[in-house]
Parts: sequence; structure tokens; C-alpha cells
Amino acid sequence: MSVRDPDKRTFIRVCLGGVATLAAVGVAAVTYPLFRYYLVPKPSSGSGGKTSIGVNEIAVGDAKFFDYNGTAAVVLKKQDGTIVALSAVCPHLGCIVQWERDRQDFLCPCHAGYFTPDGVVISGPPPRALEKLPLTVTNGMITIG
Ligand code: FES
Repeated sequence: MSVRDPDKRTFIRVCLGGVATLAAVGVAAVTYPLFRYYLVPKPSSGSGGKTSIGVNEIAVGDAKFFDYNGTAAVVLKKQDGTIVALSAVCPHLGCIVQWERDRQDFLCPCHAGYFTPDGVVISGPPPRALEKLPLTVTNGMITIG
């Protein structure tokens, strides 16, 4: 029997098609939850709630991400000690930005958008700055909202 046998060719095609389909389903099963968790903001709950974070929970030059009314937000203690709270949702297509401690800037991993620690666009496709969130600092607690 040779590979030129029509029945054998059909069998091999069906097997390869099945393997390719299983591989595609496997890749999708692994990547889709990661995409949903890291890159797509959660829908807003519209609760208008406040979030409190201890000033000492954040090192100078570092950032802490949190859920703010159902969407990703970040509070940052800048190198000069001032504290900033921003939406972590990129204004380009809605991916979640990452804090780059070494560079002291925000990176949107989807299309390489860069923002200053104050959320101002440095480069890339984002059309505007990250949204600033209101905050107060009282008795060692940062209250956002
Ligand atoms: S979604 Fe952030 S740069 Fe495109």
C-alpha cells in the first residue's frame, strides 16, 4: 500500500485536520482566559464606591493595581513622594497598562503605548492621557473615589 492510495490519503488528511483542530482549540482554551483577565477591562459596576489603600503599602517609585468600580485602576507613589491614582485602562482600545518600575512609566502592551507616571501620553497610539482618579490622603490612608 502506498500514500497514493486514495483511502490512505483521505485517512491522513482527516487525522491531520483533527490534530490541527485540537491544537487550535487547546491554544484558544489557554489564551482566551489570559486575554480576558489581563487585557480586557471588567464591566463597570457603577457603584461609585471608594477604595482605600495604606500609604505604606506602596514603595516610592512603585505602583499598586486594584479594582475600582469594576475596572482596573492604579495608585502610584512617584519618586518625589507624591501619590497619583489613575485608571489603568488604556484610552486607545481598552487594554490594561503595566507599570514599568525600572523606566518609571506605564506601558500598554497591546500597541506599545507609553505614559508618564502622571498618565500623560509619551508615545504610541493612545489618543489621550490615562484618566485621573480623585484621591485624598488622611491618617496614612489613600482613599480613591
Ligand atoms: S490599547 Fe493601549 S496602545 Fe492600543
